[in-house]
Amino acid sequence: MGIYSTAMEAVTEVTGLSPAGFFTIIAMMVVVYKIVCGMFIGPEDFEQKAEKEPIQLGDITEEELRAYDGSDPKKPLLIAIRGQIYDVSSSKMFYGRGGPYAMFAGRDASRALGMLSFKPEDINGNIQGLSEDELAVLEDWEYKFIEKYPKVGRVVSATNSTPNQNAIGDQVEQLHHRAINGVGNQQQEQ
Ligand code: HEM
Repeated sequence: MGIYSTAMEAVTEVTGLSPAGFFTIIAMMVVVYKIVCGMFIGPEDFEQKAEKEPIQLGDITEEELRAYDGSDPKKPLLIAIRGQIYDVSSSKMFYGRGGPYAMFAGRDASRALGMLSFKPEDINGNIQGLSEDELAVLEDWEYKFIEKYPKVGRVVSATNSTPNQNAIGDQVEQLHHRAINGVGNQQQEQ
């Protein structure tokens, strides 16, 4: 109590203001400072904002996709599911170096995701032989990725530049439509 009233008296003596007036002015200065700071953007924030614009890669081979595994911090982090490539850079904590799912970065992870497997031999785009249940699990992952990450390209065969898993690729286009326009609209995109 003694300290409090001494402090308040000191405020009045030094500033000539009542304690309430003094603290109101301090609060207003803090608010103005915050507003002014918010008007400026630092170089780091600017880089982060620029990173958020996904680069469209078009058709690339599985071999080319490998370069986007997080080893080069300047490149986006990419993962493919059924030949559709997603930019997962926003989830570096999952897929970046040292992340729990880093082994999927730069790969088509369809088989591993369907089988819920981390085995290196399962981390590929070959979904042949997957059970119905595993395909359903894969489809759930696909929905999650479609909703969460921008699509930036397709994986194509190195020899003839045709999309890997063509028929399913078309199906994925339908999924995109359903995700964007609602489940009822299943009109095929060309
Ligand atoms: C012990 C079993 C597991 C546990 C406790 C676990 C836990 C988690 C948790 C807590 C998240 C974060 C969820 C979020 O914030 O959205 C996550 C994400 C994820 N999990 Fe697992 N997980 C397990 C097994 C697996 C397996 C077997 C796979 C696939 C082979 C897998 C693939 C993933 C992927 C790909 C993500 C990131 C999804 C995204 O990009 O949002 N997890 N997991």
